[in-house]
Parts: sequence; C-alpha cells; structure tokens
Amino acid sequence: MMTRTHHCGDLRKKQASQTLTLMGWVHRRRDHGGLIFIDLRDHTGITQIVFNPDIDAASHTDAHALRSEYVLAVTGTVMIRPAETENPAISTGAIEVFVTQLDILNTSKTPPFLLEDDPGADEPVRMKYRYLDLRRAPMQRTLRMRHESLHMIRDYLHAQGMIEVETPMLTKSTPEGARDYLVPSRTHPGEFFALPQSPQLFKQLLMISGMDRYYQVARCFRDEDLRMDRQPEFTQIDIECAFIDREDMFTLIEPIIVKLLKEFRQVDVPQPFPRISYQEAMERYGSDKPDLRYGMLLQDVSHVVAESGFKVFKDAIAKGGVVKGLAISGMAGASRGETDGLTATAHKLGAKGLAWIKVTDTGFESPILKFLGESVAQELAKILGGNAGDLLIFVADRYEVAVSVLGALRIELAVQRNVIPKDTMCPLWVTDFPLLEKCQGDTRYTAIHHPFTAPLDEDLDTLDSDPTKAKAKAYDLVINGYEIGGGSIRIHKRDVQQKMLALLGIKEEDAQAKFGFLLDALEYGAPPHGGIAIGFDRLVMLLTETTSIRDVIAFPKTQSATCPLTDAPSSISPAQLREVHLKPDIRTAEPSPQ
Ligand code: AMO
Ligand code: AMP
Repeated sequence: MMTRTHHCGDLRKKQASQTLTLMGWVHRRRDHGGLIFIDLRDHTGITQIVFNPDIDAASHTDAHALRSEYVLAVTGTVMIRPAETENPAISTGAIEVFVTQLDILNTSKTPPFLLEDDPGADEPVRMKYRYLDLRRAPMQRTLRMRHESLHMIRDYLHAQGMIEVETPMLTKSTPEGARDYLVPSRTHPGEFFALPQSPQLFKQLLMISGMDRYYQVARCFRDEDLRMDRQPEFTQIDIECAFIDREDMFTLIEPIIVKLLKEFRQVDVPQPFPRISYQEAMERYGSDKPDLRYGMLLQDVSHVVAESGFKVFKDAIAKGGVVKGLAISGMAGASRGETDGLTATAHKLGAKGLAWIKVTDTGFESPILKFLGESVAQELAKILGGNAGDLLIFVADRYEVAVSVLGALRIELAVQRNVIPKDTMCPLWVTDFPLLEKCQGDTRYTAIHHPFTAPLDEDLDTLDSDPTKAKAKAYDLVINGYEIGGGSIRIHKRDVQQKMLALLGIKEEDAQAKFGFLLDALEYGAPPHGGIAIGFDRLVMLLTETTSIRDVIAFPKTQSATCPLTDAPSSISPAQLREVHLKPDIRTAEPSPQ
C-alpha cells in the first residue's frame, strides 16, 4: 500500500507542483469525456483529483469504475487551477491533484442516502447506517468538537487538582427519579444489579475516602420517557469536592463554561453568572430553567384586578389563585385566528382560558374591556410595560398553573416572533430550590433534587415543623433555557440523612437495605461536601448549536430507546435466559407508546 503524505483538507497553492499521496472516499464523481474528476474526501475535507489519460492512462482507465464511497489511495501532482475553475466553496478550491497512480483500496455499495450536509433521509435510516451518517461533514464536525470540549474540560479539572476516579457500572439502584436498567446476576439467582442513574453515592463515598476533589466523565442510565434533550444513556461531567460551599462550586465551574463558550461560540460571558432563586425564576419566567436572552417577563396583576368587574379574574383570586400577565411586543395586530390559537395553546397547557388586551394607538381592544374598564386596562398596560402595538395576555388560575402556562407561552412566542438574539449566551445559577414536595394525596414527600441534598442551615428545624417550606442547598446551571447541570451541597451527618429518608417515606429497615453503606459511611468522619453533574451531551448541543441530542452522540438511541444499528434491545436464547435464572413472561406484547 502507498503511504499517505497529506490530508484532503490540507492542500493550498503553496503545495503547487508537489507530488503527494492522499487517501479517502469518493465523494462525487464527474466524467467529462476526456477527464474524470473526483472529489476525494477524508476527515479534514475535500480535494479535487483529476484523471487525465495523457498523464496516466492506466489510472484514467481504472477511474471509470469508481463510484461513491469507494476507498482510494492516489499519488499525484498538485496543480493550481485556472482562475475560472477555482472553487471558493471549499478550502482546497484553488488547487487540484493530477493523478499518476491509483489504488482502489475498497469498493462500496451505493449508500442509502447522500453523504451531504442535508442527507435527504429520515432519521431511522440514518441511524441504521450510522457509520455512513457519521461520515457526513456536520457529524464529523460535531464529534470532533465534542472531543475538543471534553479535552478542554479534562485539562481544566486536572489543573484544579481534581482526580478522575471510575465508579462501578454494575451497582445498586441510585435514586435519581427514573426507572433503572437492570442486569440479572448469574451467580446470585434472582438478584440484580442496576446500571447507575448517576455516580451520586460513589462520589460521596469518595469524599468520605479523603479524595478531596473528584471528577469523572460518567455514563448514566435512566429508563425514562425520552425527549429532544434526553437519552436513556448519557454522559455527565460528574464532580464532587470536600470542604466546599455553594459559592466555591460556582467559582469552580464558571471559568470552564466561560472558556467553552468563548472557544466554541465566540461569545464573551461575564462572571459571576447571575443567580436567581427558584421562586424568582418561577415568578418572572414561569420556568425553573429561565431563558434570559429576552424579556417578556411575567407580572403579577392580581392586586389590580381583584376588585375588578371581570368575574373570571375576581373568582380566581378569591379562591386563592393569581392573575399573571405578560406583554408581547408588536402583536396588537393579531388576527382572531392568532388570539384563538393562543387560547387553544393555553388550554392544552392546562389553563382554563386566556384573556388578551390589544394596546393600539387609539386605545384598548379586548373582549374583557367592558368588564375591566379603561383605567384598569391602563394600569395593566403600565405594569406589563405594554406600549401601543403590543398584545397583553393574562391567565387566571392557581399560582403553579398560571406561571407555568405563561412561562411556556413566553418561550413559544419568543421563538415564533423571532425575538431571541442569535449568538447570545446567558448562563445563570438557579438556587434555593425547595427541598421537598408533597406527592398528591399522599402523606409522603419526594426530594426535588435527590435525597442526599442538604437543607439550608437555617431550615434544618423547618424539617420538623413544615418540611415543604425548607429550601435546599441545590443549584442548577441553566444556559439559554436548558438545564445544563445540577448539584448540591450534601447531607454529611447520619441523623439528618436518616430524617430526610424518613420524610421520603423510606422505612428504617428499607433505608438500611438500600443506602446502609452510605449511612454507615457518614458515621466515620464524613467531611462536608458537595458537587455537581454537567449534562455533557446537552452542553455539546449548545456548543455546536444542535437541536437534537441524538446528533451529538456517536451511537444514540431512538426516541423509543432502541438502536436501529445493532437492533438492540433484542431477545436472547433460552440457554442465556436459564443461565441468569430468568423465565420470560411475555403474554401479549404491549404496544409501544411511540
Ligand atoms: P441530575 O439528575 O440533575 O443530577 O442530572 C445532571 C444533569 O444531567 C443531564 N441529564 C441528562 N442528559 C441527557 N439525557 C438524560 N436522560 C439526562 N438526565 C439528566 C442534565 C442534568 O442537569 N447526581 C446528580 C448530580 C449531583 O447532585 O451532583 C444528578 O445526576 O443536564
Ligand atoms: P368566559 O367568561 O369563559 O366566556 O371567558 C371570557 C374571556 O376570559 C375569554 O376571552 C376567555 O378566554 C377568558 N378566560 C376564561 N378563563 C380564563 C382564565 N382562567 N384566565 C384568563 N382568561 C380566562
């Protein structure tokens, strides 16, 4: 075999008249009678190679057989293209290589889709032939950026004195709130390992082990409903430090986020990142992962309309609810269809209705104006910052419903009306989450973050009196409306941990069976500690401006958690089942939700 001397993306005018050897795939082929032109592609780009019978008759003859994705080695001479045939669209467009020797290293069947920026194929086909999909330039770029960013993160964390420790994949269930992926044990009939939903308990144990500062590029497994930013198997940059508080964690994480955003998105982000309490996030943005790139803030107008003549508002407030509103700039010209559409969306999101007021040059227009009156409408416009040309929308309901419906509408309208500035990055910390929430119709509580998160010091006593009032030492890193990471300062005392598990309705013997190893370890000098996990796939989505998490993972699962490439999951042989002491119990296959 010939020896590769250059890459296809390397060549410029300065290599003119050099003889060199390239290797790669046939990207495109054009037969111009006398001359055959091939775009030869490798991971660095494309070079046009030319087969001319006057230069090498044998290779020109062989080139007739070349088809898309054949694998070639070619030796040839670099020539500057005549000015009129230069191709400014590619980096090597000023030159071409005249071939003196061709070696066909492999042939290829016709690919099932185009290996272009737009493959013109549905995702299932792309995923079945993922190895071809990954040959496409955008996928090559994304995976390389994924690598570069991870490299940068590893360098940074190493420089911060953190050590990478691997934790087990075959382990016990960890409570991150999803279903576990289970692995039956051959040697212990009827017993199962769980794949980790996160390395949560191990990283805490590492702090108790005196490791001081740990990180891991950790694979996590969660059997949950999938979305555009959720995979059953995903990667966390998992971090834990001893003897730290929340501020130390923010100080540790912010510089690397700033660096990544600068490097990959060319955006300067000031430090420190804003901190917004959970309560404020819900109040103003109707979301616990607010997108700060644009305004359209929610406002409470209950006090203005509580005594108004509009019964819907009045009644909602009298029942303990609220009226929230926001102004949509430039939407006063909305058609009947558009306002009906907004109302329908609000219904779908769980609201009982949606009220609107158009602010025009000549006054207000609204079906509820006759109930509210001009002066109340004036006051509402003032509070919402609504000027002539704007549309004001309102939802009256329970607080949670009103803020979440308007929060969702805020996002939808911002996208629809194209008000989100491009190339703006708004990272922030959301803090002071509630520690617990009450399950509907239940006496038990569930942990909002996870059961190992510490309450604020001043709320320790609240755990006894009114647990839902207690706030957590938890924080989420949010960027542009995505939850990129989440973490907390942990409970490091056994009695507090036990109290927490009791509030979650976990009986003492169950607590011992499930988390006994952690509870025991907390009694052997556990240092105060805390950590965070950055959802690395989501971070890469942001860095590469990708909208689907599947496009930043080399071999992802489909929306219904399957792998079309390997055809996993698949049935196994009766012998294998017997080996792990399992009997299939499949009566009727339930239809998949997708
Ligand atoms: P949490 O469950 O919030 O915290 O997860 C941390 C981050 O991981 C990402 N993430 C996901 N990414 C893709 N697909 C999924 N299914 C998925 N689930 C979560 C998110 C999220 O912010 N042990 C704690 C961390 C800690 O307390 O240190 C934990 O796992 O970006
Ligand atoms: P109704 O009295 O149901 O005919 O509603 C009168 C107007 O108030 C309509 O424009 C409804 O869409 C709106 N509306 C009804 N319920 C609510 C609600 N909970 N919040 C805001 N607007 C509402």
